[in-house]
Formats: sequence, C-alpha cells, structure tokens
Amino acid sequence: MYLSKEEERILNGEEGYVAQKSMEILTSLGDIYGADKLISISSCQIAGVSYKTIGDAGLFFISEFSKSSKVKVKSTLNPMGMDSSGWQRMGIKKEFAKKQHEIIDAYFKMGIDCSCTCTPYLIGNRPNCGEHIAWSESSAVSFANSVLGAKTNREGGPSSLASSILGKTPNYGLHLEKNRKAKVIIDVKVKIKSFSDVGALGNYVGSIIGSKVPYFKNLELDSDKLKSLGASMAASGSVALYHVEGLTPEYAKAIDDDIEKIEIGKEEIEESKCKLSSSDDMELICIGCPHCSIGEVKEALEIFKKEGRKFKGDIWICTSRYVKNELERTGVAQEIEKYAKLLADTCMVVAPIEEMYEKTATNSGKAAVYLPSLCKQKVKFGDLESLIKDFK
Ligand code: F3S
Repeated sequence: MYLSKEEERILNGEEGYVAQKSMEILTSLGDIYGADKLISISSCQIAGVSYKTIGDAGLFFISEFSKSSKVKVKSTLNPMGMDSSGWQRMGIKKEFAKKQHEIIDAYFKMGIDCSCTCTPYLIGNRPNCGEHIAWSESSAVSFANSVLGAKTNREGGPSSLASSILGKTPNYGLHLEKNRKAKVIIDVKVKIKSFSDVGALGNYVGSIIGSKVPYFKNLELDSDKLKSLGASMAASGSVALYHVEGLTPEYAKAIDDDIEKIEIGKEEIEESKCKLSSSDDMELICIGCPHCSIGEVKEALEIFKKEGRKFKGDIWICTSRYVKNELERTGVAQEIEKYAKLLADTCMVVAPIEEMYEKTATNSGKAAVYLPSLCKQKVKFGDLESLIKDFK
C-alpha cells in the first residue's frame, strides 16, 4: 500500500506510540484487503464501549491510548453498559458502574463525543452522501452506507479508533464504487408493515445472502424502519449496504448486470418470526435496537396509553441521551415513565441484563439474534402492541 512521507514517519514512530499503533492497525488492514492507499475521512463511530463487552483488557487499551492522543475527526461512541445517570434504577452494580465511568472518561480525554448511541446520525454525526467515514457499529454502518449514501466498511472498535486518531482509513471494500453495486435482487411479495415484519425480513435476507449487497423491490419503509431493516440484516448476515428501489440514494445506479433474484413471501416472514422466538413468556420488554428516534418513543407512548399501566414486569425503551433530553423538554419522557423506563446511553444487549432477567421480549430483529447469544436470554419476538397485550 502506498504511504505518503508523513504516513511513513507516523509508522516509524516519529509522531509517538499511539499514532504509530494506529498506523500499524490501518496499514495491516489495508494490506490484508488490498487497499492502494489511505484516504481522508470526515467522521468515526466507535464501538467497544460497554464494560460488559470489552472488560479490563479493553479498559487498559483505551486508557493507554488516551494518555497521549486526541482524535482528528468528529467521533461518537456506541452505547455503554448502563444509563450514565440512571444506572442504579437499572439494577447495575456499583463496581460495574465504576469501571464503565473509567472507560467513558478515557474516551472523553481523547476528544470523543461520549453521547453513546448506535444512532449517531440522529444526533448530529450525520455524514453527507458520498463522504468517506470509518464507522464500527453494524447497524449504523448499514444506515450510513444505504440510507445516507456515505461510504464506510464495517470497522471493528480498534480500527475505527485508529481512524479517528489519524483521520484516515484504508481505501478498499465499500469505499470503492465498484463494490457498491447490488449482487442480488430481493423481490418482496408481501406487505411489510410493522417493526416485527421488518426484523423478520432482515433476518431472513441476512441469513441467506451473508455479506452480499441486496437490492429490494416493492418495499416502502420510513427511516425508522430502514434503520431496523439494516440492523437485522447485519445481525443475521453481515450486510453493510443495501439499496431500496425508489428510496435509497444510490438505487438508480446499483444494478448493471443480470443478477440473482430471490422472492420473499408471507411464508418466509412467518418462518423467520418463529425462528426469532424461543419463549412464550417474558419478564422484560425492550425496544430501541437500534436506539429509538423521537417518533418511535411517541408511538410507544400511544400504545401504552391505549393498553393501560399494569404489566407483569419491566419495560425498557432504549435511546440516545439527546433524544431523552428532547423528550424531557417536551414532557413526553415524564409521560412514558408512567409505563416504562426510558433509558439513555445503553441498550438491552450491551447492558448486563443476564444478571437481572432470563426472558426478554423485543420487536427488534437484531436484538432477537443477540439476546440469546450475548445475554443468555430466552426471547419472545413480536410487535410492541401485541407484546404489551400479553404482558398484563
Ligand atoms: Fe444499538 Fe445495542 Fe441494538 S448498540 S443496534 S441497541 S444491540
């Protein structure tokens, strides 16, 4: 891979240890994937924040980096393991909270915006179409590539951190126009309406196409459901970019060959919903994977108002600090809190929920995949309205 004189100096350690390690990470990736050079980026989204997922080794790594480095581009963080101000009411232990705060302090020292959300594009880290970025949350990667038309590979936590320190990323994969073409047409023959329909569709498609770029036909979804679709495909497969006919910015130039075509009907959606459910029972209902927008929280409030207040267990609504603040300002958060806990900075997967619950219900295709594997949960998958009806 070609390196400029300045990049070579960094690789030789002339700009210090952290810059050198960051350059080593990026050049290794570039060599593995055949990048020709490093390119400048405008922003980073950094995963690897929850103490549950990175542990003491991760805390040590980030603390070392934070001693002598600052990020060069706008950088935001993925959810951490707890609500930073309301962790006690989640049932989080003191020792966990202490370690979690240390991780956030280290990121903060580097100049990173510690708002902790997987929807950075809803809180100001929203790249323009065509911009090169280095993001490392799979649902955010999918949204940025597909819905915003920005360009990023599916980075890991360390590589996105290295990119934020150097302001660069290796030029390969989805940074190259030729790799952004669709490889398979998904013709949706059934009406996809609810979040559970979207989650089931994404789960089915991701599991059969792996990392290919799909092109959806006959799909009408709003932005909240597109974020849910991308998250679900990224969880069951490793889809990082998709196109939707008539909707997403690159669809018009996404197909140029005679490519494979797959039809999805009612049967596939139902099969997927069954696969995502492993329990009829639930102790907790969680929504907000990816983090809820203001609109989604308001929709949930309407459902709660219709269904009443007495539930068999807890309800968590996960969102960003920014959205929570906005909802507090307008009085919606206070209303929601009569029915559910509105949690910021965290989510059902990266919080240590396995220490508190065994059976969790969700309307998210992504959460339904990760809750059993990362949180030892039995899962009930469905729409919020029907889950709430069964939770009384
Ligand atoms: Fe976000 Fe957590 Fe889901 S990071 S996409 S809410 S697993």
